[in-house]
Amino acid sequence: MAVFGGGARVLRELARLLAAEAAITVVAPEVCPTVEALATSGRIRWEPREWRETDLDEVWFAFALLPDPAANAAIAEAAERRRVFCSACWPEASAPPAERPAAGVALVGAGPGDPDLITVRGRRLLAAADVVVIDRLAPLELLAELGDQVEIVDAAKIPYGRAAAQQYLNEVLVDRARAGKFVVRLKGGDPYVFGRGFEEVAACARAGLRVTVVPGVSSALAVPALAGVPVTHRRMTHELTIVSGHLAPSHPDSLVDWAALARLRGTLVVLMGVTHIAETADVLMRGGKDPATPALVVQEGATPSQRTLRSTLASLAADCAERRIVPPAVFVIGEVAGLSETEGVAVAVGADG
Ligand SMILES: C[S@@+](CC[C@H](N)C(=O)[O-])C[C@H]1O[C@@H](n2cnc3c(N)ncnc32)[C@H](O)[C@@H]1O
Repeated sequence: MAVFGGGARVLRELARLLAAEAAITVVAPEVCPTVEALATSGRIRWEPREWRETDLDEVWFAFALLPDPAANAAIAEAAERRRVFCSACWPEASAPPAERPAAGVALVGAGPGDPDLITVRGRRLLAAADVVVIDRLAPLELLAELGDQVEIVDAAKIPYGRAAAQQYLNEVLVDRARAGKFVVRLKGGDPYVFGRGFEEVAACARAGLRVTVVPGVSSALAVPALAGVPVTHRRMTHELTIVSGHLAPSHPDSLVDWAALARLRGTLVVLMGVTHIAETADVLMRGGKDPATPALVVQEGATPSQRTLRSTLASLAADCAERRIVPPAVFVIGEVAGLSETEGVAVAVGADG
């Protein structure tokens, strides 16, 4: 399957093709961050160059989705000569959905990972969107259900890579809504858990726009659960702390009191913690946390590529390095991380009598 073009408009087609488990090659000199991330993770192949007629030699279906309609027409003609099916984009499709909410913005949480984890309200609003602005951690599969008239904007932020400026994003939300569109800002997990959701809501409110907030299922709770670990257990922990580990504990801008966290007895969940996990584990142990404290890491939770690592605080950094753990990953540090599902069931049965 060949997809010519790498802008946000290809995301809907890619979502559909990935759902069909197609082998996909994207040909485009430049691509949006989400396409780049799909290529990096090996889910698609990206050839960073202009298209050429021989690209159609080995395929049976092509999508011509370049920004230039003349180039798409040329691809369609070349495909016809070779008897290759081709879906080409000339004018933008313009049919509006039958029913849609008033102009405005909805901030909708989705996932984590699994597209089915979006709330009923979130899904209903998504189906009515004129414009969808999607993050890298929101499930791409949800785009497959959108009509061709829906504009898709890629707001992906790849950790420590290229970043769409928040200012630009805020402007997109405001401009489209002011133009009379119903915009869904689709974010991974819960929009207000380390998600900058409130900054976007504030920008819209300053512009006098209606904003609906639809909370999501946060990866901090759901990803451990789907890996078989409850973040609380009434016999083990009466506290749960969710921390952002995106800054090293020694970083002058860090707002986390790691020494205090080291003294807590409950569960510590760390998001965005992969890069600094060695220093994070170290500061917790120096603060008094037992090096034998169980630890769990779940990478790409609730997706087909989910990976789970069980370790201890002392071995966590070395184990992550050895297993090449990469973002996105959730860390759980605390006694609950040592529970296996069968132990959990045994404890529950015992507790109920
Ligand atoms: C910017 S934060 C956003 C969190 C999000 N708002 C939420 O509530 O889940 C991104 C971090 O969330 C975690 N994360 C999100 N989705 C994940 C997933 N499917 N698997 C593992 N970790 C995930 C990772 O720690 C990642 O670095």
